[in-house]
Amino acid sequence: MSTSIADILNGKRVLLCVGGGIAAYKALEVVRRLRAAGAEVQVAMTAGAQRFVAPLSFQALSGRTVRTSLWDESAEAAMGHIELARWAQQVLIAPATADLLAKLAHGFAGDLVTTLCLATTAPIAVAPAMNHCMWRHPATRANIALLQQRGVRVIGPEDGLLAEGESGPGRLSEPESIVAALASGSATHGGGRDLAGVRMVVTAGPTYEDLDPVRYLGNRSSGKMGFAIAASAARRGAEVALIAGPVHLDTPVGVQRMNVRSARQMREAVFAAMPADIYVGTAAVADFAPLAIAPQKIKKTAGGEGLKLELVRTPDILAEVAKREDTGLKLVVGFAAETDDVARYAKQKLADKHLDLIVANRVGVPGCGFESDNNAMIAFWPEGEKAFSEAPKARLAEELIDLILERLQA
Ligand code: PMT
Repeated sequence: MSTSIADILNGKRVLLCVGGGIAAYKALEVVRRLRAAGAEVQVAMTAGAQRFVAPLSFQALSGRTVRTSLWDESAEAAMGHIELARWAQQVLIAPATADLLAKLAHGFAGDLVTTLCLATTAPIAVAPAMNHCMWRHPATRANIALLQQRGVRVIGPEDGLLAEGESGPGRLSEPESIVAALASGSATHGGGRDLAGVRMVVTAGPTYEDLDPVRYLGNRSSGKMGFAIAASAARRGAEVALIAGPVHLDTPVGVQRMNVRSARQMREAVFAAMPADIYVGTAAVADFAPLAIAPQKIKKTAGGEGLKLELVRTPDILAEVAKREDTGLKLVVGFAAETDDVARYAKQKLADKHLDLIVANRVGVPGCGFESDNNAMIAFWPEGEKAFSEAPKARLAEELIDLILERLQA
């Protein structure tokens, strides 16, 4: 039977540090969910956070007086900040602002939250939230990389609409995903680095098969599912090579990315990234490509009233990888995107391509599969199956990595 979030978090002492961003209001829901899972939650807030949400709201949900200052004599008399840092079995910073991440990365301890983070020996997880330019800034990238090197877990952020009305990466992960990620990190050994020493090759996104200098055959894959898997694996200690088709997503922290365009280029990059232990084929690779790429733009009049395209099959990368010649692979995972009879087609692909695991998802329905932030999946392996109900792709990626580890050790 699989372990639930409550099994893992029940009785766990979580110190939730709330940073000063508009997403602070979402931390209230994080407290509610942690409490529902049976965790004890002590909230500490930065001065900025207190400008967005009143400490009383957190007190009501956590059942504990919120800590707001290093200089609060009565709070310090009840439990000094060093004692509080020792009390914590898990520290979660949500939202983690760019400023807070910079301070943590460089060991500042000028207020209660940063002092607690420096004084604790408990594992620390951060859930960043900020403007997309701030998230992409080299200073923030460097701070995140530094924190990760020290074993800090980074949960999110997600790509989407931000408070200021712009879109991009920087949105706080949903409270449900944060709590699930915290639980999956706590369930694993070594501070969540249960893939340390493993090399994984992940493909993501579409491939574009050029027709002429301005047109191509492509598909609607956004790369979100594959990028989430790569991010999750890297967070958990794997060395990840991500072979990405043409997508507009930021490279997850700690991931080595190779950009490709066509199926043929993807195949070359995949084999160049070998040997590896695990292959996850999330990309929606085109099955057909034009026989030849026209050197000039094809004119509207080229085919009279219509135009016949001659297409040829592209290399089946997954089938070739699954032959495992000179790859060192211990586990080959395919994806199956189906519009109907999902289980039957997926099982057929599992057998035909000699895969260890296939993850099927329905496409062509709103809210799941291509492009969306959520997905629902069902995984099959020769002796079993497991359904993943609809959830954010980041969370599904964590759950899929759990299954991949199980299958690797089976
Ligand atoms: O990118 P997103 O917008 O987040 O959407 C995610 C997704 C729907 C693309 C993803 O979850 C998914 O289902 N990926 C597989 C899509 C696909 O091409 O399915 P398929 O059933 O056509 O291919 C089966 C498998 O063979 C896949 O692992 C594919 O990577 C692989 N393949 C297919 C053709 C080919 N020439 N070479 C391959 O390796």
